[in-house]
Amino acid sequence: MRRNLYLETFGCQMNVLDSELVLGQLRAQGYQSVSRREDADVILYNTCSVREHAEQKVWSRLGELRERKAEDPGLIIGVIGCMAERDGIKLFQRYPQIDVLCGPGELDQLPTLVHNAAVTAGPNRARQVALMGAAARRSSTRDAAEDRLELLDLSRSVSPSDEFPQTYVRITRGCNKFCTYCVVPYTRGPEVHRPPQNIIGEVQRLVAAGAREVTLLGQTINHYAYKHGDGRTTTFAELLYEIHEATPDLPRLRFVTSFPRDFTDDALAAMRDCRRICRYLHAPAQHGSDRILKLMNRGYTVGEYREFLARAREHMPDVYVASDFIVGFPSETEEEFEATVALVREAQFKSSFIFKYSPRPGTVAIDRFADDIPEEVKRRRNSRLLAVQNEVSAQLNRQMIGRRVEVFVEGESKLPSRREAVAANRVELGWEKPGLEESATETQLVGRTRGDQIVVFDGPTSLKGQILDVRITGAQSLTLFALLETPAPIGATGAIQTAGDPAR
Ligand code: 5AD
Ligand code: SF4
Repeated sequence: MRRNLYLETFGCQMNVLDSELVLGQLRAQGYQSVSRREDADVILYNTCSVREHAEQKVWSRLGELRERKAEDPGLIIGVIGCMAERDGIKLFQRYPQIDVLCGPGELDQLPTLVHNAAVTAGPNRARQVALMGAAARRSSTRDAAEDRLELLDLSRSVSPSDEFPQTYVRITRGCNKFCTYCVVPYTRGPEVHRPPQNIIGEVQRLVAAGAREVTLLGQTINHYAYKHGDGRTTTFAELLYEIHEATPDLPRLRFVTSFPRDFTDDALAAMRDCRRICRYLHAPAQHGSDRILKLMNRGYTVGEYREFLARAREHMPDVYVASDFIVGFPSETEEEFEATVALVREAQFKSSFIFKYSPRPGTVAIDRFADDIPEEVKRRRNSRLLAVQNEVSAQLNRQMIGRRVEVFVEGESKLPSRREAVAANRVELGWEKPGLEESATETQLVGRTRGDQIVVFDGPTSLKGQILDVRITGAQSLTLFALLETPAPIGATGAIQTAGDPAR
């Protein structure tokens, strides 16, 4: 059988993790990954439906494959993830070249689907479909859904030969919030929580195999509460303490995405108390006006969001907070948009992901509200909010200049102008490190602070995956520039030497 596999992933970290698990399962069946689509016998797209833009990219990929499929009917094309779940078999009408559809909740079945497609490939092929579907969702019990969803995560194969200093572990799947604009509750289904012992076991296996930074994933992660058979509940705070305690050799534990209203004091205290949990929260505010937040069904007011921020900073004065915002939500007035701008200025977010409202079929918002904000107004509001956030980020970053901070080295930097920028900053600040720029063994590396700020600095690529100290020498809104502070990686022994980001 032809077994070259090409998998492209769109969307969030949850999809990145799903792709890793799917690849592991298919590799176990004898498939091997190829980096060029032309070399593949099986082409899979793990898709995102959150905004139309994400879907358009997949439509164009599928369009490009039409001819190739006509020439090579043995080629297998699969659409997996949120678009498969949302569009369902309608996708076959528009793109008859698709062989496999598999929703995010059914990915444990993917190897079987691909196998079935392969053995029936050609003119008589049988299309393979595994979707949760609304009917299935209603009829399945929570326990059954939990068991099914656990299969994929439990299938994770961990071997020390894998290169994964940074990795993800899921703790919840799905979402129950039903924000009116959002497809996630429909594509990923109701929220289910993984048993703590499975999560802890997975993190321990990853750490034993070399993971140095684990990011826990969940759509509304701090809503985690696992009910055991005996009636006991493990809360999110308890889970954090338990993971932290069970993995003393893990230098960094992080989690995304948090739902502002669900943050209890004990979860914030757990973050504060556990030294190796990063000082970073991604807690999307979405808007600065109470009326719009209500239309969005977010379940909190701007005042309540502010109160959450104050509590978070009271517990951890050095915490960095990132947000998401939607601009151009139906009926958003100029004044209401300005309320969002004011919130961004006041809240001092480390960064914000800003999106133009995109009406999504199947959501409440598309049925209930007209998409009445013209595209150019959405665009203008988007760039204005981005400019304000950039100002805030630059200001926060400038406060870091001169400080020594701990970074996790992710790899080589892809910023084109970074070398010049670093040089310029150094000249300006009088920092010099003779010989570093010219050295052939040094490249620009990119790392992250415990507050999730991006730092670029010169160093050998062998430092990838290490945790070490740098001295901040310059700052832009999205990037800090630095010099290596210690010649040898201090993370090599598994010990961490620094106290992390200094307080802002
Ligand atoms: N239009 C625009 N942005 C959206 N998001 C989710 N749904 C939509 C939509 N229909 C944004 C939210 C969310 C992020 C992942 O994507 O800000 O936090
Ligand atoms: Fe979507 Fe709201 Fe759930 Fe986030 S909390 S995934 S925005 S429905």
